[in-house]
Amino acid sequence: MYIEKVKKNMRLPESVRIFDTTLRDGEQTPGVAITVDEKISIANKLDQLGVDAIEVGFPAASAGEKEAAKAILDLGLNSQVCGLARVLKADIDAVISSNLDYVHTFIGTSPLHRQYKLKMSKEQIMDKAVQAVEYAKDHDLLVEFSAEDATRTEYQFLSQIYQAVEDAGANYINIPDTVGVMIPSAMHWLVNNLKEELKIPLSVHCHDDFGLGVANSLAAVEAGAEQIHATVNGLGERAGNASLEEVIMALITRYNLKSNIKTFHLLDLSEFVSRITGIKMPPNKAIVGENAFAHEAGIHVHGVLKKAETYEPITPEMVGHTRRIVLGKHTGANAIRSKLDEYGIEMSEEQFLTVYEQIKDLGDKGKKITDADLKAIAITVLGRAKEELVKLEGFAVMTGENVMPTATVKLRIKDEIKTTSKTGVGPVDAAITAINSLVSETTDIELKEYNIEAITGGTNALAEVFVVMGDLNGNTATGRSTREDIVMASVEAVLDSINKILLLK
Ligand code: KIV
Ligand code: ZN
Repeated sequence: MYIEKVKKNMRLPESVRIFDTTLRDGEQTPGVAITVDEKISIANKLDQLGVDAIEVGFPAASAGEKEAAKAILDLGLNSQVCGLARVLKADIDAVISSNLDYVHTFIGTSPLHRQYKLKMSKEQIMDKAVQAVEYAKDHDLLVEFSAEDATRTEYQFLSQIYQAVEDAGANYINIPDTVGVMIPSAMHWLVNNLKEELKIPLSVHCHDDFGLGVANSLAAVEAGAEQIHATVNGLGERAGNASLEEVIMALITRYNLKSNIKTFHLLDLSEFVSRITGIKMPPNKAIVGENAFAHEAGIHVHGVLKKAETYEPITPEMVGHTRRIVLGKHTGANAIRSKLDEYGIEMSEEQFLTVYEQIKDLGDKGKKITDADLKAIAITVLGRAKEELVKLEGFAVMTGENVMPTATVKLRIKDEIKTTSKTGVGPVDAAITAINSLVSETTDIELKEYNIEAITGGTNALAEVFVVMGDLNGNTATGRSTREDIVMASVEAVLDSINKILLLK
């Protein structure tokens, strides 16, 4: 809506090329190393997604980098395959001997790089850059030129070196924001001005040191840049690069730019790269985070269930994701009802309220309730004895090192209050023994089977206790309870079963 209002002032290209550098800058993520086989699998997935170019590595750096470049080229992908090279003949030769026909060559241009890293004058740097581009063009390579640290380079020199490499035959000019120092309006200014002076397509390579990598890339596109460098999951040096999935989805859905990208592969690609690199995405990561399409708050869930767009800017399917209704402290009755409907579980209003209260109670304790937890709670409530002839009025258990676990149980049995304390081999045993001793004063019910299962992992997992009790007349009944406290779950399951048998008598 508002985008349409400002779009007419933009210099948007018809479409934007996506240059993926996951296998080069992404691999420079501290602690990340990707094997040749892993690079091949990632390249295949990037090609499936439909990126225009894949920067596969820095062939001059090692034999492994060369091998990976060759192997990826041999896959015969639709995406162009590019190798990085400094403006050195040897580096460009390494790209050529990897059989690649696309080189991304670079040299630092900012005062810091000139003075401290290269110890070269502007003229020397310009000469080197031009010679490298000419050498690559003489070898029939497609050439992309980067002025490293462009965004801290004096505009006049930057523009001069870019014009010189354009004249030398470069095919693309890339503008690296090497240490992520730009802000969107400054990036817009820079691209807008360079656009006036250069004819070949402009590209940007934005690092994310201030979390502005994607915003700066999009500002560049608004000023006319035709290509964006990006990495899967925003991997890369330090805070990383502009995230591929965010850039793609913004270009397609915010700017409505034409694209051949098959966006439904994005989540799969992100998860694949995450597994390979060991860099996990935070749950709230845009587009591919676990929570990107998850809803917990009652008001939001209510809206989403009525019309997904109320709280979702794009459909989860568009990026291969799924919508998740998460149960927790903010969950409203609507979300629980919709989940129960989904599982085909029907219950009375009273039973529903019991489930709802248990979910809220668990949520207040900070627990995230999984689908399996909800099913177990609902099934427990559905199967519960219709009447409580034996009711728990009080319970305490003591356990520890060098003491006999002891349970004190207070029960209301047919309007009479009875209390006892018993020991056992563990707290559960002590609790069941105490219940049995009170109940056996009036009935002959005893425990026949006891099973416990943790529904989900973790120390705060819900435990599901299932028991079978029986009397001397051969009446048996199951009892079930789902609780985060194993002893309480056991007590409830036993009482549930006892009540069912008493109701049979
Ligand atoms: O960030 C950067 O400047 C780079 C160059 C190699 C283009 O990655
Ligand atoms: Zn970089």
